[in-house]
Amino acid sequence: MAAVDLASIAKSFGATKVLGGVDLDIADGEFLTLVGPSGCGKSTLIRIIAGLESQDSGSVAIGGKRVDHLRAHERRVAMVFQSYALYPHMSVRNNIALPLTMSRLSLWQRLPLLRLLSGQRRQVMRGIEADVGAVAAQLQLEHLLDRKPAQLSGGQRQRVALGRAMVRSPDVFLMDEPLSNLDAKLRVHMRTELAELHKRLGATFIYVTHDQVEAMTMSDRVAMMDAGSILQLGTPSQLYEKPASLKVAQFIGSPAINLLPASVANGGRIELFGRPLALAVAEGQGASVTLGIRAEALSLVPGEPGHAGRPWFSARLRRKENLGSEYILHFDLAGRDAQGVTMRASPAVAASLSEAAEFALGFDEAACHVFNAAGDRLEPKAPGAATASVVPLRA
Ligand SMILES: Nc1ncnc2c1ncn2[C@@H]1O[C@H](COP(=O)(O)OP(=O)(O)OP(=O)(O)O)[C@@H](O)[C@H]1O
Ligand SMILES: [Mg+2]
Repeated sequence: MAAVDLASIAKSFGATKVLGGVDLDIADGEFLTLVGPSGCGKSTLIRIIAGLESQDSGSVAIGGKRVDHLRAHERRVAMVFQSYALYPHMSVRNNIALPLTMSRLSLWQRLPLLRLLSGQRRQVMRGIEADVGAVAAQLQLEHLLDRKPAQLSGGQRQRVALGRAMVRSPDVFLMDEPLSNLDAKLRVHMRTELAELHKRLGATFIYVTHDQVEAMTMSDRVAMMDAGSILQLGTPSQLYEKPASLKVAQFIGSPAINLLPASVANGGRIELFGRPLALAVAEGQGASVTLGIRAEALSLVPGEPGHAGRPWFSARLRRKENLGSEYILHFDLAGRDAQGVTMRASPAVAASLSEAAEFALGFDEAACHVFNAAGDRLEPKAPGAATASVVPLRA
């Protein structure tokens, strides 16, 4: 088992700067996910940890020891790729055994003719078979050991690739989008399996994905990357509940957070559509800010909206999106072209609403996120600093 410490990792490919000095300490046994948009440098970073790519500067330590001078197979890490990288002509058994036959048998013991003669080889092979059997049992692959990869489903191939990583008992598992070739249902299933595997093995997992749901559901901590650096590192709930920047807020959460343009009035009070909210920030009067409201923080205001005691705006229901257990309702703000918001609703509530009708949508100021023009999070001032009482507003 091992912690992984990255210090000031920088990497360029020619003139393209891909990583700009990444610092990241991953605890022993942690499940850490690197998440971020395509091209932000996730694979490059994980390949540097694996030893498949070398950094221009900075250092990688595994288990407290610098490994920069070690080649990939000397690092006690195992990598699982998006493509699985299985050998098509080999059985599942031999695919899983491969890392062990490479490390435990000498070159001549692997030669076809000589290997028949060696008693020592038979002993090593028995050990390898036992190890492969143990891994196959853990991953429920025993009945598939004699098949070739082409005779397996996507999920089964994925498990073989995992088995090939597990059989080496690495200290660190590195996984680069291992689920992205699976269909949606299998992906959900494998998410649970991977999380359980992590618990069972107690090894350090470093997992790359651009799927924020995967990042949120499996990880102890998530590092959100953008353009070669880490924007925010924290638990999934920290990233969801306190996104440090607009980019993090937009990336984490499905449906995406609702963003509304707002401004700062006298005393730092936020104004939305020209009406004051009971929400203030330490920002100069006249500054433009962006208000972020998650889909679950919006609700329908029944009856006369002004009586609800919360701010609200009018919106027209454009589309009801059925997700089975719930609906995502897509609204257009009345009188504001191209400004849409989404809201969650139960199937019963959604059924009672007609498309194209207009509704009052309410929200709590306490659930709002505020970002300045540079996209950085602004903390609301201490309670009591906001002077406005609740004022209804119309879009
Ligand atoms: N061998 C290479 N030579 C030149 N440029 C490269 C090489 N590998 C990666 N890059 C570039 O480095 C940047 C980061 O690539 P990387 O594969 O790390 O991104 P990523 O975050 O894994 O993206 P994705 O989510 O699409 O897999 C990209 O702009 C890519 O084009
Ligand atoms: Mg990648």
